Amino acid sequence: ADILVLHGPNLNMLGIREPGIYGSKSLDDINSDLVQQAESLGVTLDTFQSNTEGELVTRIQQAYQESVQFIIINPAAYTHTSVAMRDALLSVKIPFIEVHLSNVHQRESFRHHSYFSDKAVAVICGLGANGYTYALDAAYQQISQAK
Ligand code: DQA
Repeated sequence: ADILVLHGPNLNMLGIREPGIYGSKSLDDINSDLVQQAESLGVTLDTFQSNTEGELVTRIQQAYQESVQFIIINPAAYTHTSVAMRDALLSVKIPFIEVHLSNVHQRESFRHHSYFSDKAVAVICGLGANGYTYALDAAYQQISQAK
């Protein structure tokens, strides 16, 4: 695919999980909206969710083999812990946008640090599921410029 959307741990619980913070949309809703949006833009889009750090690392490595041009990633709790996922993104050299549903900076201080933000093209947080829509628009612009 042209664009890969990666979702970290517990995002499979969206809609059920703390809806006051994360909203009422399910992950399936978010993913199918993104696939539709990609179709109307004329790009291909894959999505992948895992609760396991190693699976996310492996999926990032696969993206290199697949010539993915851009990654949109919500690393969820791994945002604040994962050197391995950071290293994977740097290894494949695929540009990425970091998305968070909640405004992590309004929350506990352990959510204020990200292992990804200093390497991201952009960071979108606090706009709920719309953040993914904006990220896809921006990713599309980035890859169209590159062509
Ligand atoms: C999150 C914020 C993280 O701190 C948290 O661990 C998540 C979701 C968000 O989208 O707001 O699981 O990435």
